Amino acid sequence: MGIFITLEGIDGSGKTTVSGIISARLEKDGYKVMPVKEPTETPLGKFIRSEILCSGGAGAEDVLASLFLFSADRTVHIDKIKAELHRFDVIICDRFIDSTYAYQTAGLSGTDENKKLKEFILGVNEFILEQKKFSIDRTYLFDLEPEKALSRLNGRISKIDGFDSRPPGFFNSVRNNYLRLSEKYRERIKVIDASSPPENTADKIEADILKMLEKRINFTD
Ligand code: TMP
Repeated sequence: MGIFITLEGIDGSGKTTVSGIISARLEKDGYKVMPVKEPTETPLGKFIRSEILCSGGAGAEDVLASLFLFSADRTVHIDKIKAELHRFDVIICDRFIDSTYAYQTAGLSGTDENKKLKEFILGVNEFILEQKKFSIDRTYLFDLEPEKALSRLNGRISKIDGFDSRPPGFFNSVRNNYLRLSEKYRERIKVIDASSPPENTADKIEADILKMLEKRINFTD
C-alpha cells in the first residue's frame, strides 16, 4: 500500500517545481510515483478552473458555493486515489483539503458567523476523510512571504493564481490560515521554508518521504 502526500502553500511557493524534482528522484530510486492535483483534470475540475478561478464567474465570491464545488471534486478524486494506492508507492497531490480552508476563508473578518463558517469548513474536510476512510500520511506546507512568491511568479502571472485580481493582503491571509492549520494538525503538517532553492527544499522532503517508505517496508515485512 502506497503513501499519500499533499503539498500546500500560496501560489508561487514552488510546490509544483519541487514536486517534479521529488517525483523524478524517487522514480530514479525505483519507486512508483503518481503526481496528481486539485482542482482535478475532470470536467468538474475544469469547470472550477474556468468558472470559479479564472472568470470570477458564478459562485466565485460565494464561500459555500466554492466549498461545495471543490469538495465535490475532491470526494470523487479520493476514490480514484484510493484505487491507485494499491499500484503506486507514493501519490503526491498538489493541493488538497487544506487549500479549501486556507483560500475559501481568506480575508473573512472575525465575526461569529465567519467563525462558524471556518469551523464548518474544517468539519466538512474531516467528514469527507472519515466517510471515505481515507487519510493523508503527510502534508508539506511550503511557507513563503507573498512578496517573494509574487516576485517568483513575475512574468508568468496567470488569472488562476489570482495575484492580479485578489485584494492586497489576501495572500497574507491565506498564509496565516495555513500556519493556523499547521498548529492544529501538528502531526500531519510539516512546515517547510520555501525561500531556499527548489533542490534544497526537495532534499528535505525527499528525506522525510524515504523515512516513511522505509517504515512502511519494515511494517509489511
Ligand atoms: P494551482 O493549480 O496553480 O495550484 O491553482 C489552483 C488555485 O485554486 C489556487 O489559487 C488555489 C485555488 N484553490 C482553492 O481556492 N480551493 C481549493 O480547495 C483548491 C484545491 C484550490
